[in-house]
This record gives sequence, structure tokens and C-alpha cells, in this order.
Amino acid sequence: MSSSPQDLPPRISAFRKWLQRVLVALVIFTITLVFLLMTKEFIWGGRTSHQLTTLDPKGSFAQSIQDLVNPVFAVAAVVFVGVIGGIGFIAWKFRDKDEDDDHFPVQLHGKTSFEIGWTLLPAVVLAAVGVFTVLTLIDLNKPAPEAIQVEVYGQQWWWGFHYDVDHDGSFTSPGDVTTATELIIPVGREVELHVTSNDVIHSFWIPALNGKRDAVPGQNHPWKLEASEPGVYRGQCTEFCGLSHANMRMLVRAVPQDEYDAWVANQQKTAVEPAKGSEAELGKNVFLGQLCSSCHLINGVNNEKVEGEKGVKAQLVSGIAPDLTHFATRGTFAGSIFNIYGPDPSTEADPGGDAADVSLPGNPGGALVGGDSAPYVFNDPAVEAWLRNPPKMKPAYAITPTVVAGVPLLRGMPNLNLSETQIDQLVAYLKTLK
Ligand code: CUA
Repeated sequence: MSSSPQDLPPRISAFRKWLQRVLVALVIFTITLVFLLMTKEFIWGGRTSHQLTTLDPKGSFAQSIQDLVNPVFAVAAVVFVGVIGGIGFIAWKFRDKDEDDDHFPVQLHGKTSFEIGWTLLPAVVLAAVGVFTVLTLIDLNKPAPEAIQVEVYGQQWWWGFHYDVDHDGSFTSPGDVTTATELIIPVGREVELHVTSNDVIHSFWIPALNGKRDAVPGQNHPWKLEASEPGVYRGQCTEFCGLSHANMRMLVRAVPQDEYDAWVANQQKTAVEPAKGSEAELGKNVFLGQLCSSCHLINGVNNEKVEGEKGVKAQLVSGIAPDLTHFATRGTFAGSIFNIYGPDPSTEADPGGDAADVSLPGNPGGALVGGDSAPYVFNDPAVEAWLRNPPKMKPAYAITPTVVAGVPLLRGMPNLNLSETQIDQLVAYLKTLK
């Protein structure tokens, strides 16, 4: 130091005193805030497990992360209180007192024992934290070949799931299951995910069940999930992937093993054939006649392979849109931002879950396994509004899409300018797809 306090003009001395008071106030404020944040209620109030919190683990993998967070937080809290408290104490103890303006405190700069101490102590603390972090990471990344195998693929802006039901290493052999938006898993069973992407980089994250894993085109990133209790666990794409990144949600429904088995058995079936002369049958014709069937697949309707040139058999559906074979067994659609099912508006009783409130996941009830959805009813208004103008419901492109050879390069579902009659018929058909 080149100047000692007695050299300072009175104005600067007063400023230093003011600065010390601000510092002490800041320390007290920060410590109070940290303790407030440590209480769960302050962070997410009375909200339930549907919310995106990492602090309320519902499975063994999420729990192992939480078991790491708690002690690290405790160590960090001790370090924090020690450092901030130390600064506060020193600022107070050695504050500029008017009476001893001519006294300048002894300086500790360069004292070897102190230098070694404050180099070693943080190194030891960080090394300890590091060892446990790496051990947890190794554990979370252990392959689980015996687990249920699911390929997860991200697309602008929804998630698709292929289940290797027969465990033969292929996700598309006969008997395997394809679904979208909602991942159905049995409680207490490990599920091994193979995360990938069909277009840009996304990130798969179900906070209550595990950390996040990036979905990168051309890469297969293994990840695991396990839910220890039945429930609906919300997820969100966490890698910016275009205009509707925020609308790229998904959820996990953890159900008892027998319900899972019933779900798989129902998903393996081809689509329900609408009754002759019904409105649903007209809807099926709209599906086939309009552009729907060039992107969406309905197993048993437009999955036939057509023999083209040189005898090559190919499916005519691009598959860039969610599989609709069992659309009405899901609770949500369009990247899980709208509810397919909600409470019956004609009854007083609220079964929990509001069709109009997109923050709550729609509940398909018994329709999950192909049965009756009661007490929940199909959310006609939401599905109709979607079919009327999808880009309005879920923004897809900020600028007019590029047109190549007369075809606009679309992302997300385009507006097909369907008539109200066609929309009603399509809804009638979608409703039957359990
Ligand atoms: Cu997909 Cu963000």
C-alpha cells in the first residue's frame, strides 16, 4: 500500500466508512437470502411433481444426483458462510475508527503458512467433491442391457419413442412399439434410453427422474430412467432448437407393471377400423385424401410398403410427424403443450386436471390401455383448434418458408386449410384411435 489512512482526505475516509456499512448490510442480506432459498417451499411453493424441479427426485437415478447435491450444498454453505462471515467480521473489526486514524494494521501479505493453507484447503474440498461427482457420473452411465430399451428421437418440435419390446436389438421389428410425446414406463423398472435426433440438436430432460442428455443427429447417447412411484413426470427440451423450442415438451407416465403390459399389448395392435358409414370413417378418408397421410403414420392404414422402381419396396409416409396409430391413448399432443383429455364440462365433479390449463397434463384415464377415458373426456376444442391452424397454435417459422421446386420447406405441421366439416370428421376419427 502506498498510502495509509492518515494520508486520506476526510471525504474519502467518510466514503470508506459508508462502503464498509454497505458491505456488512450486503453480507447479512445474502446470508438471509441463501437460507430462504434452502427451504423447498420458497423455491416451488405447493406445486406438485408435474413441475420441472430437480430438487424433488422420484427415481433412483434422480435420487443419486440429489444425494450428491445435498452434501455438496452443505460443504458449499459452510465455505460460503465462512468466507462471507470472515469478510463481514474483518470489515467490522478493522473498520476505520476516527480515534486511531494514525494506526495502520499489520499486513499479512506473503505469509507462507497462510499461503499454503488457503491453497491446500480449497484443493482438498474440491477434490473430495470431484471424486463423488465422478463416481456418480460413472454409475449413471453404466449400461443397463437388461432394462427396457427405448430409442428416443428429437424432432422439431416433439419427441418420438421406439420400444424394443422383443429385446432383439432392433427398435422396428414386428411387435415393437412406436409412440410420441409421452413415454410410458413401468414403476420400479430401469429403462435404458438411446437418445438421438432426426434434425438439429435437442436435449432430453425429465428432471424428476434423471439429469439431461443431448440428442445429437447421427449419435446414440445412452441414458437411463427409473420411477419409484406412479405418476406423471414433466420434461422439456433443453437445447435451443428453433422457434418452438419452448413448446417442445414431453412427459413420462409411470404406471404399475400390469398396466404397462396392457399398454404395450394395445400399442402392438394396428389402428381401430372405424365403423362403416360413421363420421370417423369419413375422417379416415380425409386423413388419406389430404396431406396428413404423407407425414403421419397410422399402422394398418397407410403403413403398406409400395413396390416402386427396380422392385424396391418403400413406405410412402415420410415419418417426420408423430405416429397417430394410438393417438387417443395419450393425454397430450403437439409436443405435450395441449391436452387431449380433460374433465367432463357437463359434470360438477372435477376429477383433477383442467383441459384448458395446459400446465396440467391431460389424463387419458382408461384410454391409456385402449379402454374408456371416463371420467375424462376428449378435448374436441383443442384438437379442432390445432387442425384449423397449427402454426398459429405452435409457432413454426419466423419468416416465410423457403420454397424448393414449388414445395415450401416446412417445419412443424403446416396449415392444410381444412374445412370445418373435414376438421369435425378428422376429430371424430382421431377419437377412435385408441
Ligand atoms: Cu428441441 Cu429445444
